[in-house]
Amino acid sequence: GPAFCKLISIFACFLFAVLKVLFFSLSMIERNVYSYLNSHLSSMANSGSAVDLLGSGLHMWPDFHGNRSPLADSTLKGMVVGLSVSQTIEDLALLYLSTIQALALGTRHILEAMKDAGHDIRTIFLCGGLSKNALFVQIHANATGLPVVLPDQTEAVLIGAAILGACASQDFGSVQEAIEKMAKVGKVVFYNRKYEVFLRLFVHQREYQAIMDQR
Ligand SMILES: *[C@@H]1O[C@H](CO)[C@@H](O)[C@H](O)[C@H]1NC(C)=O
Repeated sequence: GPAFCKLISIFACFLFAVLKVLFFSLSMIERNVYSYLNSHLSSMANSGSAVDLLGSGLHMWPDFHGNRSPLADSTLKGMVVGLSVSQTIEDLALLYLSTIQALALGTRHILEAMKDAGHDIRTIFLCGGLSKNALFVQIHANATGLPVVLPDQTEAVLIGAAILGACASQDFGSVQEAIEKMAKVGKVVFYNRKYEVFLRLFVHQREYQAIMDQR
C-alpha cells in the first residue's frame, strides 16, 4: 500500500541524495550526506526565515527501539505524522529535519523530567559524532532554549572567550546576559508548540496500545 510505497520512495530519495553527494564530492571534498541535507534545508527555507519552521507539518516520535529516558518503556515504537505521497529530495530533507527535531524534543523531555525532580539545568554539553553536525546542535539550542556547549571544539572555545571578553569590556552586565546575547538561542515559542504535539504522539501511542489490549 501507500506506506510501503513511501518506504520505497524514501529509499529512492536516499539513493538519489547519495548519488548527488558523490557527484558533489568530486568537486567539494569533505561533504557528506548530512552536510548536503543541511545546506539543502537552508536553501529550502525562505530567505531570512529559520529552517526550524520547515518542520511545522511533520512530527515524529523517535523511539523506534523503545524509550530509555525519561519513560523507561521498551515497548514504545516510532511514529511519523504528516507524510505525503510526494517523494522528492525535499521530502527526504524534511524527514531528516523532523528526525533531528524529534531527538531534540526528546532531550527536552528528559530535561523536563529532571527539572520536575528538582534539578536546575542551564547548559547542555554535547559531545560525540553528532556534535559535529551544526544543524543538530543549533536545533538542540532552539528546542530546549538552553545554550549548547561543545567541548574540544574551537568554535565553542572562541565564543566562550569572546563572551568573557565582552564581560570584561563591560559590554554586558553579566556572563549570563552575554551568553543570552551572543550564543544565539531562540525559537523556543515555535518549539513549545511542537513539543506539545510531540508529547501527544506518545499519549496517543499508549491509547492505541490500550485499545488493542482490550479483550
Ligand atoms: C535557531 O534560532 C536562531 C535564533 O533565533 C535562528 O537564527 C536560527 O535560524 C534557528 N534555527 C536554525 C536551524 O538554525
